Amino acid sequence: MDQIRVRGGAALQGSIPIAGAKNACLALMPATLLTDEPLTLTNAPRLSDISTMGALLGSLGAEVAGLQEGRVLALSSHALTGSRADYDIVRKMRASVLVLGPLIARLGHAEVSLPGGCAIGARPVDLHRMAMERLGAEIELRDGYLHARAPRGLRGAVIDFPIVSVGATENALMAAVLARGTTVLKNAAREPEIVDLARCLRGMGAQIDGEGSPEIVIEGVDRLGGSTHRVVADRIELGTYMLAPAITGGDVECLGGRLELVAAFAEKLGAAGVAVEETAAGLRVHRRDGPLRAVDVETAPFPGFPTDLQAQMMALLSTASGVSVLEERIFENRFMHAPELARMGAQIEVHGGTATVTGVERLRGAPVMATDLRASVSLILAALAAEGETVVSRVYHLDRGYERVEEKLGACGADIERISE
Ligand code: UD1
Repeated sequence: MDQIRVRGGAALQGSIPIAGAKNACLALMPATLLTDEPLTLTNAPRLSDISTMGALLGSLGAEVAGLQEGRVLALSSHALTGSRADYDIVRKMRASVLVLGPLIARLGHAEVSLPGGCAIGARPVDLHRMAMERLGAEIELRDGYLHARAPRGLRGAVIDFPIVSVGATENALMAAVLARGTTVLKNAAREPEIVDLARCLRGMGAQIDGEGSPEIVIEGVDRLGGSTHRVVADRIELGTYMLAPAITGGDVECLGGRLELVAAFAEKLGAAGVAVEETAAGLRVHRRDGPLRAVDVETAPFPGFPTDLQAQMMALLSTASGVSVLEERIFENRFMHAPELARMGAQIEVHGGTATVTGVERLRGAPVMATDLRASVSLILAALAAEGETVVSRVYHLDRGYERVEEKLGACGADIERISE
């Protein structure tokens, strides 16, 4: 298994190109199932999660080209041959459940495995199921699979989500575009990935209003056509690389970054003593004079502070002067990076969903282990600022969501290399 070795201390200088959003792409790819015409996605990231989704779509009979080369994915579902998302794929990647809505809408039935637990908590799919049932699907749980049928087709409905769910909003949106009549999604997720999906679906002929607000209105249409869509920039990759100059005291321009994608996060960086400026090509980030300052952070659905940047922010705050309190409000068990950061000298106390971080002057390199995608990159950020050498193992987590991380950081002066075994 690959490891990544980092020798810390260099202040990063230069520019980092931001890729297309993994999470947007994982929702856009299943949209191919809604039409028999080709869907082309440009600016797609080259990541193992994207290949996993490609394999899942392939197992349903979709044609997926461009996975090896990256950037342009050519998808076609003119001849679907399956309707079952197998446990072997779904347990690897929860986003597999996003085929549920499109399959029911197109074929009138689907069998999708329950994902089971994951490193950051229970993560149920009850809201996905509720949304499909509201649209008229009959769903039974058998042998670990959701068996969904809509023998008379889907019909529009009001779906009021009790809590905000990105994935359930995406599934409902994709099912509703082909349902008969009007669907209203209330308390819908407002993430940029939802807006991106709605735009793509509209390009395919869907009638959608209100994406980016808590209420999305969808007027069902009989059929969708093909389209070409550019995947939005990855705000989580953006936020992660914004932290690289912040934690090392450098100066980096994140190319393709836009402030509105990371506004709540950038505000916290500002409070911690990090300058974020919009430039013609993206966002420039550098440390203001003086040490980093502690700030309190609470994760929330968009436009709040993203849970997917909480681990990385904790790495930064580990070296800020003062005491920071981080509250994780989205996932129940998302502090697994804390004991790994502690191995590098961070002072962190975790009680339930609250982590209290007392900044230390310096982190020190250590062998550490990645536990999930965002945790692994938080360890790399910490390692960039630490004295001495850090070896991060289990980096396959990292490869799910960050392309060419060692190249991108290395180009800005980081001493980082991948050790392949
Ligand atoms: C998506 C992102 C993930 C991010 C998360 C929150 C993708 C592929 N993944 O995950 O990176 O961390 O949004 O921003 O886009 N919930 C239920 N029942 C459900 C569905 C969700 O209770 O049926 C709960 C979850 O356990 C969690 C909360 O709702 O506590 C939000 O989860 P959700 O927004 O659905 O996350 P995902 O779409 O899985």
